[in-house]
Amino acid sequence: MQHSALLNVMIKAAARAGRNLKRDLGEVEHLQVSLKGPRNFVTAADRKAEEILRTELAKARPNYGFLGEEGGAHSGSDTSHRWIVDPLDGTTNFLHGIPHFAVSIALERDRGIVAGLVYNPANDDLFVAERGKGAYLNDRRIRVAARARLAEAVVACGLPHYGRGDLARARAEIFAAQQNFAGLRRYGAATLDLAWVAAGRLDGYWERDLSPWDLAAGSLLVREAGGFVSDCDGNDAIMTKGEIVAGNETMHRELLRLLKEAGKPAAQEAAAQ
Ligand code: IPD
Ligand code: CA
Ligand code: CA
Repeated sequence: MQHSALLNVMIKAAARAGRNLKRDLGEVEHLQVSLKGPRNFVTAADRKAEEILRTELAKARPNYGFLGEEGGAHSGSDTSHRWIVDPLDGTTNFLHGIPHFAVSIALERDRGIVAGLVYNPANDDLFVAERGKGAYLNDRRIRVAARARLAEAVVACGLPHYGRGDLARARAEIFAAQQNFAGLRRYGAATLDLAWVAAGRLDGYWERDLSPWDLAAGSLLVREAGGFVSDCDGNDAIMTKGEIVAGNETMHRELLRLLKEAGKPAAQEAAAQ
């Protein structure tokens, strides 16, 4: 398949960073048995991956700004374009040798996302989308699932940890999901959760307390696959609020309804029983 020049730049950068991460995953598997564990090694791998992405993207588009999870924001002379990058999404999985993690690159133009890539180096799943041009997995066009019955749907979510996020609300939301969906999953890589919604593997997904690099590429993938995304109140403030609800039209609407219900004190009391 012929990609645009822009996607070629993104794919080349992701492939370089991904090659390194895949090699590092092998090392992480060995380090599980050492007393020190792989934590420092993974931090270095994560930083190295971002460095590769920054260098590669800057080679092709030297004037663009850059926002990366590890190195923060760097402004460019072209103030309307900015890369938004998560060099390693799913760090906890990676740290444990679980082959479910991704490199994520998005291009923002005048505050709107115009291109997105999510790449899992462990199995070579490459998801790409450009605004108005559809979403693809390994060069095959993808679409969100058509399922309309909640009882048949499989939905993913994030789980806040103690000391982070609103645990009572999360419990009520999970309780609501358990009562309505065929299956609830927590995979641990937000960018892949969104890519999997785009590919129709998951019917829906919601999560809070995220960052722009978790959401930028994946939200475009879902939209370009014919799906719907919003923040948890149904508005467009995904990136500024750091939260997302995604799915086909029905799943998105129903998820929003369930989250709203779960936000009521009575629902939180019931979930705490
Ligand atoms: C995390 C993953 C995870 C989500 C976390 C994110 P990281 O990103 O996407 O699925 O639940 O909140 O921070 O730290 O692995 O890049
Ligand atoms: Ca992330
Ligand atoms: Ca990360």
